[in-house]
This record gives sequence, C-alpha cells and structure tokens, in this order.
Amino acid sequence: MMLGRPTTDTRKRLHVITWGCQMNVYDSARMSDVLAPLGYVPVSQPDGADMVILNTCHIREKAAEKVFSELGRLRRLKDARAADGERMILAVAGCVAQAEGEEILARAPYVDIVLGPQTYHRLPEMVARAARAAGAVIDTDFPAEQKFDFLPDASAPQGVCAFLSIQEGCDRFCSFCVVPYTRGAEQSRPAASVLAEARRLVTQGAREITLLGQNVNAWHGDAPDGGEWDLGRLIRELADIPGLLRLRYATSHPRDMTASLIAAHRDVPTLMPFLHLPVQAGSDRILTAMNRRHRAADYLRIVEKLRTARANLALSSDFIVGHPGETAADFQATLDLVRQVGFAQAFSFRYSARPGTPAAAAPNQVPEPEKERRLQELQALLRDQQAQFNAGCVGWELPVLFTGPGRHPGQMAGRSPFLQPVHVFGPESVAGHEISVRIDAALPNSLAGTLMQERARA
Ligand code: SAH
Ligand code: SF4
Ligand code: F3S
Repeated sequence: MMLGRPTTDTRKRLHVITWGCQMNVYDSARMSDVLAPLGYVPVSQPDGADMVILNTCHIREKAAEKVFSELGRLRRLKDARAADGERMILAVAGCVAQAEGEEILARAPYVDIVLGPQTYHRLPEMVARAARAAGAVIDTDFPAEQKFDFLPDASAPQGVCAFLSIQEGCDRFCSFCVVPYTRGAEQSRPAASVLAEARRLVTQGAREITLLGQNVNAWHGDAPDGGEWDLGRLIRELADIPGLLRLRYATSHPRDMTASLIAAHRDVPTLMPFLHLPVQAGSDRILTAMNRRHRAADYLRIVEKLRTARANLALSSDFIVGHPGETAADFQATLDLVRQVGFAQAFSFRYSARPGTPAAAAPNQVPEPEKERRLQELQALLRDQQAQFNAGCVGWELPVLFTGPGRHPGQMAGRSPFLQPVHVFGPESVAGHEISVRIDAALPNSLAGTLMQERARA
C-alpha cells in the first residue's frame, strides 16, 4: 500500500567499488539488487552519490590497505556533500569489514555501516538505521539464516557470461588464508535454488555460467528429491538447460576433486576444458606446512586423471612463494611441478602475512627480497608456458563465445573454451553466439582470429 502522494524524483544514487575475487563481484551485484526497492540506482562515480559501498578484500596486505586510502578520498566527497546539506551514506562491506570491523570504525569514524559478507540481505534495515542514527551500524554476524534464501532475484541481467554463486565459506584452513575467518564455514546453496537462478540467467541472455564458491568443488547441496548432490551431479543437471552453451566452476581445492566431478569433465561437453585448480606449492614440506592436505604427487595424479577424462583440458593454478619455512630447494620443487604440469595460465603471489592466520605467527618468515626474487623466477616460467600454450592455438579452429565489441572499431571480443580472450573483426550480431574462429595470432594474454562461419550455432 502506498501512503501519501508520490513526490518528485525519489531515486537515490548508489556507487559500489569492488575489490577481490569473483564472489565479491557477484555480491556487489546482489547488494545493488537488495537496495533497488529502496530507490537506489547504480551510478558509475562516487561524486554526488547518496550511498557508496566499498566491497573489500582481505586476502593480502596490499588489498586490505587500499580500503583505507579509498576511505580518505571518499571522506572528502562526503564532507563536500554535507556542506551542501546532503548526506552520503558510506558502507564498508566484504572481507576487510568482517576481519577489521572495529578497526575501520576507529580509523575512519565517518563510516556509517560496516557489514560482513553474510549479512547483505539485512542491508536495507541497516541503511534505514544509518539514516536515523548518528553512530555507525555494524553487522558482522554469521547469521543462522542463509543470505541466499533472503536475497531477491537478481534484477540486472549479467550478459552473455554470467556468474552464479553456489557455495560460500571454507572449512579447509590453509595456514596462510583469511577466507575461513572472513567468509565463515562452508555452506552450499540448495540445488533447486541454483537451477532456478541458472534458468533465469539463461532467459536473460547468459550462454555461459561460471559457478562460484571459495571452495566450489566442495559443494554438496540439498537435491530437489530430498537427497544430496555433489558438484558433478549438479553440473550434469545444469548442462540440460536449453540455451546454456558453457559451464565453468571456480575455485577448486585438489582434495575435493572427486571421481564424479572428474567424470563430468569426460561426459559433459558443456563443461569447458579449462580448470583453475590451485596447487600453491610443489614441495611436500611446504604443502604440509600450508595444511593443504595433499602432496605434489597427489596433484599430479589428479591432473593425469583429468587429462585422461578430457584430453585437451588446460590447467591454471595459484601459487604462493615464500611461505614461512620455504627454502631454495622447496622453491625448486615448485618450479619442477610447474614444468611437469604445463599451465595454460596462472596467478602467483608473494606470501603476505595475514593477522590471525597460523602462518603469520611462524618464526621462519622468508625475507621480502628473497620472496620477490622467487616470484620473478616463477612468473617468468609461467609466462613462458602461457605464451607457449597460446602459440600452440595458432592455426586451430576454436569455438568462441562472443560477448560484445572489442576495443577497436569493427572488432568483436569473446572467449575460447580455454578462457583466452579472442578478438576478430566481424559484425555485432555475433555477440551471444558461439562461432568457430581460426586463430591467426597469439599475444601474451589473448588471441586474434578470423570468423569461419557467420551463422550462429545457437
Ligand atoms: N579458495 C581458493 C583461493 C582463495 S584466495 C583456493 O582454495 O585456492 C586466492 C589465492 O590467493 C589463493 O589461491 C592463494 O594463492 C592466494 N593467497 C591466499 N592467501 C594468501 C596470502 N596470505 N599471501 C599470498 N597469497 C595468498
Ligand atoms: Fe583459503 Fe582456499 Fe585454503 Fe580455503 S581452500 S583456506 S579459501 S586457500
Ligand atoms: Fe578477498 Fe574475501 Fe574474496 S578476502 S579473495 S574478497 S573471499
């Protein structure tokens, strides 16, 4: 029921800044969705915004530091707005909020709302409280209710390549990692809710869906028939959705790479032949110190099984160099593992001590210059492997799913099955279609090719 007469423009401007992983990108969209009924409309600039949300990442020190410098900048905008008699509500969400909520309020008392990743569905209530109250609102609970059950359906279409969050949190407690503390215990979203959102995404134009979770292959959700499914089963069901051409999932832990999931790579053509499977290190001593619960040989065995299931499977990984206790010989073991696997792509990081994690308290920290030296060496090898993988694609015909225009006039951009960006010159009508492309050239991070057929496959 509407009380009173509608007044003039009631729209409010919402600006969201997102750092961190794809889960945060997904969550930022859901925060916009949850605020839409309150009249908030997303804008691309913080200037003049009625509300600014910083969705933050705590994974490495650098990521967390950015928050405070950004807050300094926003404070000036907030003050300028206050001078004009307007209010800017400033909210800090995400993993820094979860880990350092009190510290944020101590260092930046002008922040109005601090909310952890599990309480986004309560955001409207927090905004209402912040609008009334002078003090800050803080909510970093791990509520009993699952936020997924309380968030509204996604309102804005995501486009050709969409992300779908199916799992949150992590129970693995790797020595170096903040995620189990910032995101809490592992929670799987029920299959019916995942399938419904996937169908909706496809209706809205999605042709590729990436299933997201901090430890996504640990997903084990309630099945529609009352039982429980694992990720392999969920993928088989999702693959039946008409119009859905491609499925991916990220990020996975080697220990949760089950036989059923490996078999899905063999049986489900919709599941793309590219897997991000972080190994972190190649030395068993360091893997043990990291509490990864797998050895280098286990990882190699999983890779072999995956490649038996899907011969053209390309792999990607995350690496940490300079974990406490890592010797030169341990680091060599990482290089050896990289040489044995041959990665299509990878991310690598200097170990960054995170407050509250076991590794941060370890006595045998590796000096920064040594970490830097190792990182350079590892990255040179990984760059070579990526260049080799890309060069190996030249001359091949690959199905490319086109997402939209490229940077240059007349250019269209898409993704190969192996997630490489591919550019061609062609009509805009290719967007949303998977079309065969002959690869003509390999660049360090992308491919260039020629359209082989203008007729869309779907
Ligand atoms: N859930 C994913 C990764 C989450 S974080 C997984 O289990 O693999 C993404 C990557 O950041 C990690 O894979 C790791 O390589 C890196 N990372 C996490 N904590 C880090 C730290 N303290 N220092 C440096 N890199 C870190
Ligand atoms: Fe962090 Fe991934 Fe380890 Fe979980 S499995 S603790 S998210 S690195
Ligand atoms: Fe960062 Fe939190 Fe994701 S720490 S990587 S935003 S889970």
